[in-house]
Amino acid sequence: MNVIDLTGKVAIITGGGSGIGKATCELFASLGATVVVSDIAETAHETVASIEAGGGTASAVVGDIGDAAVADSIVSAAVERHGKLDVLVNNAGIMDRFAGAATTEDDIWRRIMRVNLDGPFFLTRAALRAMLPAGGGSIVNVASAAGIRGAAAGAAYTASKHAVVGLTRNTAYTYAKRGIRANAVAPGGVETNVMTEDIQQHIDQESMAAITPVHQSAQRVAQPIEQANLIAFLASDAASNVNGAIIPNDGGWFAG
Ligand SMILES: NC(=O)c1ccc[n+]([C@@H]2O[C@H](COP(=O)([O-])OP(=O)(O)OC[C@H]3O[C@@H](n4cnc5c(N)ncnc54)[C@H](O)[C@@H]3O)[C@@H](O)[C@H]2O)c1
Repeated sequence: MNVIDLTGKVAIITGGGSGIGKATCELFASLGATVVVSDIAETAHETVASIEAGGGTASAVVGDIGDAAVADSIVSAAVERHGKLDVLVNNAGIMDRFAGAATTEDDIWRRIMRVNLDGPFFLTRAALRAMLPAGGGSIVNVASAAGIRGAAAGAAYTASKHAVVGLTRNTAYTYAKRGIRANAVAPGGVETNVMTEDIQQHIDQESMAAITPVHQSAQRVAQPIEQANLIAFLASDAASNVNGAIIPNDGGWFAG
């Protein structure tokens, strides 16, 4: 048996169509989990196809996690299609334009909060309502170095990821005696699609200049699988005593 074994577990992974989410879906399936791949994009179906081609079991739900009804439907799909829910990975997230508060527009603030904070909250609430009566479950949130420090992104993204850290800790403590574990990973830079062309073309250069020294101190850019490995550990029974942890996975960036 692998140290990390997800055999028999049913897991929802949001943002499973790309980057860290896709790597996590594929790893979970290879470790024995049945995976519900959630994404706003049709790429969720491609991840399901790749899992099935490798002999694993998965199904897709396409929709916006910032809509509470969609979040509820993702959890319902897991329970109705696969009988239960053991693991929720709140991974889907979007980046801001590195703007400080003075230059952050309302629509950017709202969009970031909707995807990065409302989504994980709606899914956590729906998942707990399925997990608590069943006796427990594991929630892993993909926060960010920007969930711990102030100079990794703009005001909106930084605030959203700090809030995800708070949601993680509150969930961990509130439900610890009822079999729920909630932990977060805090990646540094990872080679994914999160820095879209649109973001790269509209970076707030003045705010970016202020945080550049911290950016330049980053040690290395990680591959998505390096985040997936930690997420799988936290999701698994191998991490049975790990609860409320916020774990940097940044090659040592946060150590400086
Ligand atoms: N890449 C990095 O450097 C980095 C660093 C720290 C944290 N993170 C976090 O990792 C997580 C995954 O990001 P990634 O780097 O793999 O990016 P990515 O853009 O490759 O993947 C994100 C996925 O989320 C999906 N998504 C976006 N909005 C959604 C919505 N409203 N509902 C459902 N799905 C939605 C996208 O379609 C995409 O498939 C995010 O939470 C991000 O903030 C990334």
